Amino acid sequence: MINMSKFLITGGAGFIGGNFCHYMVNTYPNDQFVCIDALTYAGNLETLEPIINKPNFKFVHENICNRDAVFKLFEEEKFDYVINFAAESHVDRSIENPGIFLQTNIMGTETLMDACRKYGIKRYHQVSTDEVYGDLPLDRPDLFFTENTPIHTSSPYSASKASADLLVQAYHRTFGLPCTISRCSNNYGPYHFPEKLIPLIIKKALANEPLPIYGTGANVRDWLHVYDHCTAIDLIVRKGRDGEVYNIGGHNERTNLEVVKTILKELGKPESLITYVKDRAGHDLRYAMDPTKIMTELGWKPKYTFETGIGPTIKWNLEHQNWINHIISGEYMRFMKENYNR
Ligand code: NAD
Ligand code: TYD
Repeated sequence: MINMSKFLITGGAGFIGGNFCHYMVNTYPNDQFVCIDALTYAGNLETLEPIINKPNFKFVHENICNRDAVFKLFEEEKFDYVINFAAESHVDRSIENPGIFLQTNIMGTETLMDACRKYGIKRYHQVSTDEVYGDLPLDRPDLFFTENTPIHTSSPYSASKASADLLVQAYHRTFGLPCTISRCSNNYGPYHFPEKLIPLIIKKALANEPLPIYGTGANVRDWLHVYDHCTAIDLIVRKGRDGEVYNIGGHNERTNLEVVKTILKELGKPESLITYVKDRAGHDLRYAMDPTKIMTELGWKPKYTFETGIGPTIKWNLEHQNWINHIISGEYMRFMKENYNR
């Protein structure tokens, strides 16, 4: 008999959760995958279109904070693994309205873990972020975030993600919940919502619009292709040790200005489109991951560097203009107007 596992993937209509659903459904045809997503402004069912009719995939339109619905789903489906991507994920929106970040990112995590406790699972995995470590100074390129770097958050977004991480660790210690946490650096790749830097710049450059750079553009982010994030989570869920945190990153640090100039060069657009705008409040200076633990303990290796990953990402955006146009709702237009009129 085939040994089948059943997975719950939350937030699968979003950027990273969507890529993860594609990866898992196609890689493990003998396993079953249920995706639950509230379809907020950031969720789009079109992202799941290539797999929505596969026999090993099911979509459930629901909010992870809806306790009754979540418990009912767990009772019916009897999951082996739960992987929580669902979140409010945009720092600028968390500055505008922190409340919804606390609700989804913290209370949603609590609801899922309570269901795991009641119905039993093999592993709960929390998808976290490097932003829980705060930032590093720009003049210390020798410093990196390790799993032992203290949590020190800057934005309501990162504070909500760090709170959820602490709650996961508390459920592990107090209730013995089998769990793992991954903290990844900034992702880019297909199905990236165009409010985040890379898809926003591609979209605006194609339209010959001004490209908004916060502050001086000297802030550094460590960019990982979303495919590599997916393979890392898959490994952690199957082979990681209970109660452990794993950092994910591929040493691809770039200043925001370098990222924007690379995109302009690839698209053959002029640097004169670059426009410096008011800096983000509390703007983290530099993120840089040390992925030694996941590489040595689990043998994970990224497939892409920034140089090999950015070209295909730009090509994907060029070839999926319909997906981009459909995701740009009235809510997107309102946020763009308010954020950039600050
Ligand atoms: P995203 O905003 O693109 O997608 C989030 C998804 O969650 C959307 O489909 C949305 O509809 C869904 N969602 C939101 N609230 C929900 C709720 N209450 N119930 C059910 N579904 C809900 O986010 P993303 O960039 O794909 O990030 C996914 C996860 O990865 C997040 O937990 C984020 O913190 C983490 N992460 C992101 C990055 C990055 O660079 N984007 C890096 C590291 C970690
Ligand atoms: P973002 O994609 O929002 O990710 P995060 O804040 O989670 O790292 O932003 C990446 C970097 O780009 C960050 O330093 C802020 C900067 N940025 C701009 O300069 N202009 C923009 O319009 C946006 C959205 C971001």
